[in-house]
Order: sequence, then structure tokens, then C-alpha cells
Amino acid sequence: TEIDVQNLRSPICCILGHVDSGKTTLLDQIRGTDVQGGEAGGITQQIGATYFPADNIKERTKELRADAKLKVPGLLVIDTPGHQSFTNLRSRGSGLCDIAVLVVDIMHGLEPQTIESLNLLKMRNTEFIIALNKVDRLYGWKVFPNAPIQQSLKQQSDNVQSEFKWRLTDIITQFKEQGLNTELYYKNKEMGETYSIVPTSAVTGEGIPDLLLLLLKWAQKTMVEKLTFKDELQSTVLEVKVIEGLGTTIDVVLVNGVLRVGDQIVVCGLEGPIVTVVRALLTPHPMKELRVKGKYMKHKEIKAAQFFKVAAPGLKHAIAGTALYVVENLDDLEDVKEVVMEDMKSIMCRVDKSGEGVHVQASTLGSLEALLELLKSPEVDIPVSGISIGPIHTKDIKKASVMVERKNEYATILGFDVKPTPEAQELADKLGVRIFTSDIIYHLFDQFKAFIDVVKE
Ligand code: GTP
Ligand code: MG
Ligand code: NA
Repeated sequence: TEIDVQNLRSPICCILGHVDSGKTTLLDQIRGTDVQGGEAGGITQQIGATYFPADNIKERTKELRADAKLKVPGLLVIDTPGHQSFTNLRSRGSGLCDIAVLVVDIMHGLEPQTIESLNLLKMRNTEFIIALNKVDRLYGWKVFPNAPIQQSLKQQSDNVQSEFKWRLTDIITQFKEQGLNTELYYKNKEMGETYSIVPTSAVTGEGIPDLLLLLLKWAQKTMVEKLTFKDELQSTVLEVKVIEGLGTTIDVVLVNGVLRVGDQIVVCGLEGPIVTVVRALLTPHPMKELRVKGKYMKHKEIKAAQFFKVAAPGLKHAIAGTALYVVENLDDLEDVKEVVMEDMKSIMCRVDKSGEGVHVQASTLGSLEALLELLKSPEVDIPVSGISIGPIHTKDIKKASVMVERKNEYATILGFDVKPTPEAQELADKLGVRIFTSDIIYHLFDQFKAFIDVVKE
């Protein structure tokens, strides 16, 4: 049947894998950016997204002379953290995507979060491709920048080729132990049954053309129905950010539907549902990540799939990691307001009913969830009596100060990727509330543990 090309949306591709397997660097390589270099501790701790227009992908894959008839407008790629604390973000990322890339470090093989990611993909029946990354680390590797991988492999010495072969064979065996058949993509005759492996280097760009082309061809071939544009809006707030001149804005992934300037929207807020009207829709220039500062392009409407910034009044207490809805019909408003707060309920359940515990605060719902998960784990086991999202204000200090008399060591705020306002810090000093902050999630626990150890002595 003829495909209605006009009506295909861009596939959404999620990048998953163990910490430091090279997910962000792969995207940096494709974009020509250095997001990874700017990350605290060199680890990703939030979800990022980048839109790659089809023209760009054509340019990048031209050496494969596939001239691939790209029918989709582009590819929206979602980067996720590999660190073990962020299971929730891997789950959220994989829940948004049509297709995925599972990144495996050729020097390490399958690692715990590779297997966790694999299980998420299996659970959701998501198609994926394996990027066998860091091939340039094979001893004696000769670099052919941005070359298609077969071209590059052919020109390697016998030693390099044999190391490549035994590592590949080993990793294929490890996948088999997980119940999965895998094969080098250019030898794979039964995609769908057997998962394809694309050897890559995020540093030299080798194998990147292969990866991009395979992703798009595979998505176009197998998911026309899924990629056929639907009107029903499906959208998630990934981040809440204050931008000079715009006030508080939200970064949104639109999976399906159209969002327009003037639309009435509802998002989940810390102090209840936020009902507002879209004032501006902004995208970064193509190939730039929204996490990176720059100039924006303005749009009257945006059609899925895309990642963009929404400016609207009253977003100050919006919570990242929750769904966004458009009110089509005013009669539905009350229902929508209720639905939008569902995401918040699940997190409220994590607060200790006894009322005894530390106060926990983070920049996004996703990072708050990750921190709560970490504190709950048996090795850590720190009770939580209060939570909040965003900067630490005096009201948070007041809440935490209740513990000063009750259980002094819990008169503590653990802030992940947030800071106290000067007034809040002042009040904390006065009331005897301790504030530990860090932009690396597990350092927070280390700080608190060191403090508890001193108290116990
Ligand atoms: P998390 O997001 O924290 O899970 O890590 P990640 O998977 O995004 O890995 P990241 O991009 O942070 O890379 C980790 C380290 O590996 C960095 O020092 C990169 O420079 C390095 N690296 C990534 N890909 C390659 C590669 O293909 N070759 C080599 N030699 N180094 C790489
Ligand atoms: Mg990363
Ligand atoms: Na990393």
C-alpha cells in the first residue's frame, strides 16, 4: 500500500545502556556538540532530547550511498542516564519511544544496567538496535573518521580484527544468555527475529552513518502505522526552567498531536493543577540540544513528534516528568485537572507516614523519584518525612525544622541539583536545620551517612 508520507511523524528513539557506555557522547558526535563535557561528574542525571531533521541524517549517511528514501521528517532522540539510581528515567524514556538504541561498551560487554534496559525494552515490546560502542579502544585501532563501519573494519590489522571478532562473539553469547539472538547488522538476514549489532565509536564517528541509516530504515519499514500522525495529544513535560525574558518555561516532548499558541493547557503543579494558555512555542536551532543555551526559533504551532519549549504564564510550580494536556472542551476541564495530578499522587505515597524523617528536595519529579528510590534501598534506608521540587525556600526550612526537637538528625534537607535561597540558608542556620546539597545523586547519601556516623559516635 502507498504510504501517506505527508502524514508520518518522526520516530522517537531512546538511547539506553549502562553508565559510561557512551550514550551522550554518541549524540554529541552526531550533533557536533559537547553536552557530555558539561555534565556534573561526567554522568547524565536527566533526560535530554534532540531533533535530527531528515536532511541532516541524509548528509551524515551519504557515504553509505543508500540514498535512503527517508519518508519521515526526522528523528527525535532521547538520551537517558545509565547510572543505577535512574531506573525511573530509563523507564520514562523507554516509555516515550518507538524504537531504541541499546549501547554496549565493547570492552565491558553486558553490564547490570544493560540488562535492566534490555528488560524494559522486552517488557514494552520495543524494537531496538545494539550499538557496540568504543571500537576505537581495540588495541591498535586505526581511525577513519566518520567512516561506515565495514569500510573501517576492512582496513584494520589482523590483530585488531581478531580482537574485534572474539569480543563480538563473546557479547553475542552474553545476549544469548539473556534469551536474545543478535548478529552484526550487515550479516543479519532476519531482522525482527535477530537483533542487529552496529559497531560504533562515539569518539571517531565510525559506524555512526550505519547506525542512523539502520534506525530510520527499520522504523519506516516496520512501524508505518505507529508513525502515522494522530490528532490526539500525547505529551510529557521533561523540564521546568526559568529563562531570562521568558519567565518559567517548560520543555515538552510531543509524541502525538499538535500544540498551538493560544491553546489552553493543564500541567501538574506542586500546589495543584496549573491551567494556563500557551504564549510561545520555541525550538532550538536544528541539531542543538535544548539543555544547551542558545537562541530560539518561534513557531505558531508544532506537530509531533518534537521536543520544544513552551512559554506560558503561571508555570512557576510546574513539575517536570508529568503529562501535559490540552483542554479541547471547557466541560472537560475539571476531569483534566484531576487526571493531571495523578503523577504527583504516586510520589506522595513514598513519604513516611510516621512523620519522622529527612526532608528531600530535587529539581525535577524524575530526579526526586530517583533520590527517594535511593533512600529507600536496604543499603541506605533513610526515612523521608517531606518532599519538595525546585529551589529550597524558607517554607521548606520551616517544615524540616519540626524534626529539631523530635529527632534532631532528621532536621536535615537533602537537596539534589537544587540550592537554598539566601533567606532559606539564613533561616536554616538560625533554626538548626542542616542542608546537604549536591549535583551528583550518590554524593548526597555519602554526605548524610558521614554525618550520621559522627552523630552515632
Ligand atoms: P551516563 O549518561 O552517565 O550513563 O554515561 P554515557 O553512556 O552517556 O557515557 P558518556 O557519553 O558520558 O561517556 C563516558 C566516557 O566514555 C566519556 O569519557 C567518553 O569520552 C567515553 N567514550 C564514550 N564513547 C566512546 C568511544 O566510542 N570511544 C572512546 N574511546 N571513548 C568513549
Ligand atoms: Mg550520558
Ligand atoms: Na557518563
